[in-house]
Amino acid sequence: MNYYLLPDSPYSTYGSYLEKNGPSAILISRALSPQGIVNKIRQSGLRGRGRAGFPAGVKWKTILDHPCAFRYVVCNAAEGEPGTFKDRDLLRMNPYAVVEGLLIAAHVVGARTIYVGIKASFGREIERLNQAVHEMRTARLMSDIDLEILPGPPEYLFGEEKALLNQIEAGLPLPREAHYPPYEKGLFATSGSPNPALVNNAETFAHVPSIVRGGADGFRALGTADTPGTVLYTISGDVKRPGVYELNAGVSLRRLVYEVAGGPTNGEVKAVLSGVSAGVIAGNELDTPADFGSLSTIGSGLGSAGFIVLNTTRSMVRVAQAVARFLYVESCNQCPACKHGLRIASQTVDGMFDPQQSHFHSVELALFGSRSAPQANRCYLPVEASVLIPSLVHKFKPEFDTQLSNPAHNPALFPVPLLSDFDERGHQFVYDNNFAFKNPDWTYSVPPAVEEPTPLWWLFDFHHEINELESTEFWKSENRAAKTLLKSENLRIVLTLMKVGAVLKEHRTEGNVSIHMLRGRIRLKVTGNTTELDQGQMLILPPGTTHAVEALDEAAFVIVMPAAPGCETRLPKMLACL
Ligand SMILES: Cc1cc2nc3c(=O)[nH]c(=O)nc-3n(C[C@H](O)[C@H](O)[C@H](O)COP(=O)(O)O)c2cc1C
Ligand code: SF4
Repeated sequence: MNYYLLPDSPYSTYGSYLEKNGPSAILISRALSPQGIVNKIRQSGLRGRGRAGFPAGVKWKTILDHPCAFRYVVCNAAEGEPGTFKDRDLLRMNPYAVVEGLLIAAHVVGARTIYVGIKASFGREIERLNQAVHEMRTARLMSDIDLEILPGPPEYLFGEEKALLNQIEAGLPLPREAHYPPYEKGLFATSGSPNPALVNNAETFAHVPSIVRGGADGFRALGTADTPGTVLYTISGDVKRPGVYELNAGVSLRRLVYEVAGGPTNGEVKAVLSGVSAGVIAGNELDTPADFGSLSTIGSGLGSAGFIVLNTTRSMVRVAQAVARFLYVESCNQCPACKHGLRIASQTVDGMFDPQQSHFHSVELALFGSRSAPQANRCYLPVEASVLIPSLVHKFKPEFDTQLSNPAHNPALFPVPLLSDFDERGHQFVYDNNFAFKNPDWTYSVPPAVEEPTPLWWLFDFHHEINELESTEFWKSENRAAKTLLKSENLRIVLTLMKVGAVLKEHRTEGNVSIHMLRGRIRLKVTGNTTELDQGQMLILPPGTTHAVEALDEAAFVIVMPAAPGCETRLPKMLACL
């Protein structure tokens, strides 16, 4: 029985998925009672893979037993946690397990509609999901079910379950009041009908088919008693082989970092972040098993199993700065203490790098800001700050003291690792650098303007001169092969008869140069811009301009010579001297 989610290469069809995994878990589940399936899930010990590790069976049972007969199933594929890429990898490799899990869930709780909340930017994953849904519909496995894939915004809060429901209903990723959990008030609720929603992470749903097929014991045989099964671990940051790896839950962080991910780049492991939602793990805590229970005993957590490795070159004050800013910016400002506390934390840590603003109590103030953020909070975002920032200070206090003693010290910035893609060839994550321009009100500043290059050329028309030129001896001459016509001091006149296919070596001018088109037309690439130069036109290139010919007419005649004021009128005079 296969309890692993990630194949060696992506399943290309539902058929290839079934070949490896056994008969359709959807058909098996339909022969089972909802209660029977819930029992299997409870016995398997499956815990939610989205963040908190809540027992999936308990959640499913709550919805199953809910007095309201109208229920929804919602798949959380928003994946906004920094350092996490596992849901996208899963959807690329094996969307079938996710869709099977969703259809089993709909059967269990009696839902007619399934929503998949996924970021609009996850184009490849949306495509894979659409393909899987299409195949299953064609196979008549979901004739009575409506499945909607809802592309959502880039915000971190989109993945918070109450915000996700709000996004589905109202198009805004703003968490609802805390006292309305989705299993009590689901989607499109009315006063008499709360319509509970079963919200689980994509990976959580994906584990269900193998439990239905193979039973709970096989699943429990993998992983630990605390966290049975496999986990999709994302390892990013300062490691040689970043990526998503599926291993039995409870593998030690040391093995994950040193064996699986190839060890740290540059020096040793100073610390590991578990996304931004749990306390930092110090380098001397790497023997901790990576499961929910064990990590919580060292003040951290498994979260969505996205581990960001930090090597010894990293400044932990810079890490605190990045995390504080991320949470401050992403806070939605519905609960004043949250935005305000996080702003204090973020701005205070920023100030620690500025001798004008750094103060002996900066660390205390940052702690106060982060700890005061969770008050009457609708969601857990500020709780993350209140755990992570103090843990950084607590475990790396000497670094904070050193920074305070020398605020001019300017260690390298640490950008929050938001993973936007995985480059399979280079075996590297691609980082989303847009966040640097995101403001606390969720608008984006315009990135600093790239300095406009000074005008590269001026075009002059010298048809009149060409007409004059045509009467010169030179023009009448048969021998018009490319040659240097005149070379004296700083004056150099080169006539080039170019043919199609000629390649001019790209070169860089040292002083102003003018190019005159005597015949034909060429297309030039000048410092990245393309322009066409027609017969009778002249172009002046200032120093430092790179230029190369891209295409030309047959028999294009070009003269290149040092440019000087008025050179457009000097041309015929010069040629007349030849
Ligand atoms: C700020 C914030 C962001 C979250 N982002 C995600 C996310 O991107 N994906 C996810 O599955 N859960 C996310 N969660 C957790 C969800 O609220 C919820 O607990 C989860 O979807 C439940 O599914 P599970 O029980 O299968 O883990 C987030 C929570 C918070 C507080
Ligand atoms: S706690 Fe913060 S992030 Fe969560 S809803 Fe309130 S203001 Fe928004």
